[in-house]
Amino acid sequence: MIEIKNNILINKISIYLLINKLELPIYVYDYKKIIFNCFIIKKLIFFVFYSIKSNDNLFLLKIINNIINKFDIVSIGELNKILLISKKKPYIIFSGSGKTTSELLISINLKIFCLNIESLQEFLKIFYLIKKYKNKINLMIRINPNIDAKTHKKISTGNKINKFGISIINLKNLFFLNKITKLNIIGYDFHIGSQIIKISPIKKLINLIINLYKIKKFKYLDIGGGIGVNYYINKNIIKFSNYYNKIINLLKKKKINLKIFVEIGRFFLTNCCILISKINYIKFNQSNNLAILNLGMNDIIRPALYDSYHKIENNNIGTKIKNFFGPICESSDKFLNNNFLKIKNNSIIFFYSSGSYCKVMSSNYNSKFKIYEIIIYNNKIKIIFKIEKFKNIINNYA
Ligand code: LLP
Repeated sequence: MIEIKNNILINKISIYLLINKLELPIYVYDYKKIIFNCFIIKKLIFFVFYSIKSNDNLFLLKIINNIINKFDIVSIGELNKILLISKKKPYIIFSGSGKTTSELLISINLKIFCLNIESLQEFLKIFYLIKKYKNKINLMIRINPNIDAKTHKKISTGNKINKFGISIINLKNLFFLNKITKLNIIGYDFHIGSQIIKISPIKKLINLIINLYKIKKFKYLDIGGGIGVNYYINKNIIKFSNYYNKIINLLKKKKINLKIFVEIGRFFLTNCCILISKINYIKFNQSNNLAILNLGMNDIIRPALYDSYHKIENNNIGTKIKNFFGPICESSDKFLNNNFLKIKNNSIIFFYSSGSYCKVMSSNYNSKFKIYEIIIYNNKIKIIFKIEKFKNIINNYA
């Protein structure tokens, strides 16, 4: 387990050993915690697909693939990563609102398990490709249920103003069309948002699903991902097991007996990783004492993009400071923090809950290098992503 505060250890590895070896900032994953999470998730009676967009590090994918070899992808890049690491043919669901013709064709030719379709136009494009290349593919219809997931507006996907899914009105048109096209629709698909911490949206969704199945039944149901994790700010977040038990009970009550898919991302790795950085400067301004870290929005964009909170900790020695910024030339390169930390120059700062949607969303903005990822594995340190070099960031200029 990751345990920083008192003994500065992650699974018996001293953070200071790490820091002396490698250039900061570094993402540090905990192998034991990853295995622990995978087995909690595997216990679900549903078919679990790992949403690779949440973290696509090849080494971590290998670990997950050994336990759960089903993946939810949104691009051919993600598909190729999975094919690279898995020996057995994995089960793949391809989600996403803007699949290109070549992405659809590759998926059809590779006979992936299923394409989740998002529009009538996509449906017709698939029909055309299947006819032309005399092939087949399973389809699920992603529906926009117009349900508010009660999460951050930038990660809500199930409201009618969102770009995702087919509205219930268009669903009727699609069924009508399929009397002619006769494509193999195997289920309904939903994903109303991410970091869902309340049960009410999913209750609404299940009620809607029950009504849809009265109109037309399928063998499968994909309820997407979205289960929230504890970033140590939301005290009342729904527990993983309560969330899924509620879904099971609601469906059981109505005697709806289906094979259910879930596409879980964030819950796998978020709390299996800390990000270690250090203080570069402390500034004593008249109205605003602040610190500049060596970690920026290029390394972890969630605070700048969604005002996300990542708990920050250190060994609490030095001057009291509350405001922490990164080195990038943007005012939004700021970390959300409400508590004073005592710091001095070069103090080490830990950011918690950084295993999902962090490294995977990092960039070379300001021509910065992508940073190390390491894993503590059998009480040893293993580098699983090498810090980039200048050649990596100039390679593709023509
Ligand atoms: N299925 C679909 C169709 C999705 O779009 C997503 C996430 C998932 C499953 C997995 O959801 P999860 O279990 O991870 O909540 N970058 C944002 C999160 C964006 C989520 C995108 N879709 C963040 O950092 O909070």
